Amino acid sequence: DAGPSVLPSLLLCDFGDLKGELDRLRDAGTQVLHLDVMDGHFVPNLTYGMPIVEGLRRHTDLPLDVHLMISDPLHYARPMAEAGASSLTFHVEAVQDAEQVAGEIRELGVGVGVALNPETPLSDLDACLPLVDLVLVMSVDAGFGGQAFNPVALEKLATLRESHPHLLLEIDGGINSETIGPARAAGCDLFVVGSAIFKQHDYSAAISALEAAIEG
Ligand code: DX5
Ligand code: ZN
Repeated sequence: DAGPSVLPSLLLCDFGDLKGELDRLRDAGTQVLHLDVMDGHFVPNLTYGMPIVEGLRRHTDLPLDVHLMISDPLHYARPMAEAGASSLTFHVEAVQDAEQVAGEIRELGVGVGVALNPETPLSDLDACLPLVDLVLVMSVDAGFGGQAFNPVALEKLATLRESHPHLLLEIDGGINSETIGPARAAGCDLFVVGSAIFKQHDYSAAISALEAAIEG
């Protein structure tokens, strides 16, 4: 919570050289890592689970911000917390009772986040909002890196910021040097970035350019 932060998303990284990627991201000044967990059911893509989270945990002290794009977040919340997740963010679209899910994640002693896709209205968060630390506003449909930014996220951020001055707000999807400034202006704190870092050779230069663009 030291001001706005760029969170590299380990979705488009080199999974054959995870330790090297961790070292490069650390050298580039990364403060928090964003981990994209997909189950091939809530979203039509598969990534990784507890063994990767646990392996990363053994090789870095950075907070691990775990984005659960899965149909049954409660089933995996405890194993994810035990694997070393610092915060667990579930999708409101995936669950029947978001209030209960947020409460049960809270009991695991990790940060609690709730995510919503571009077409999901903010009112779907009403019940669980008092129970979460963070709202992850998706600016693409969850599932794949490299998609185009959906500006509906900016309206949601501005509305949430207005009603909840101290809530942590995170944005994910299509964040680059053009979109990061408007997201900051709408009140966002944490900026998840995939392609705009991992498609570049020099991660330090990519992250510095994003940081410079945050304040517009
Ligand atoms: C999408 C993931 C994102 C993704 C962002 O479902 O949640 O974290 O990696 O990638 P870019 O920045 O390429 O949109
Ligand atoms: Zn994500």
